[in-house]
Amino acid sequence: MTKKIFLIKSADLQPGCTRKVETEGGDLAVFNLGGKFYATSNMCTHATASLADGEIVGDDCIACPVHFGEFHIPTGQALTFPCTVDLRTYKVIEEGEDIYADLDAESEEAASAI
Ligand code: FES
Repeated sequence: MTKKIFLIKSADLQPGCTRKVETEGGDLAVFNLGGKFYATSNMCTHATASLADGEIVGDDCIACPVHFGEFHIPTGQALTFPCTVDLRTYKVIEEGEDIYADLDAESEEAASAI
C-alpha cells in the first residue's frame, strides 16, 4: 500500500539543506543531498530534538542540534553516541518538481540494508 503525501517543491530546498515538514504521520525532516531528496522522522531518537535544525555533515549525515549524535540520512542508521536507535526513513517519490513521501515505505537504501 502507498500512503503518498506531498512534502515540498524541489526548488524550495537547495542542495545541502534540510527542512521540517509537518504531516499527518508526524513531523518529517526532508533533505536535499546533492539534488537527491530523502525523508526521515524529524525527532531525534535520543531525546527531544528537531533534526531539521541540525547540521548536515559529510556528504550524507545529519548531526543532531542538541547532543550532536549523528545519523546516516539515506538509511537512518544511528552512527555516533549518544544515538543508538536508528531513524525511521521514508521512501521519497519525485514527480517533476513535486517531492512526495510514502509513509508506508522505507527509503530504498534502508530497505536494501536489511
Ligand atoms: Fe539528539 Fe541527544 S537529542 S543526540
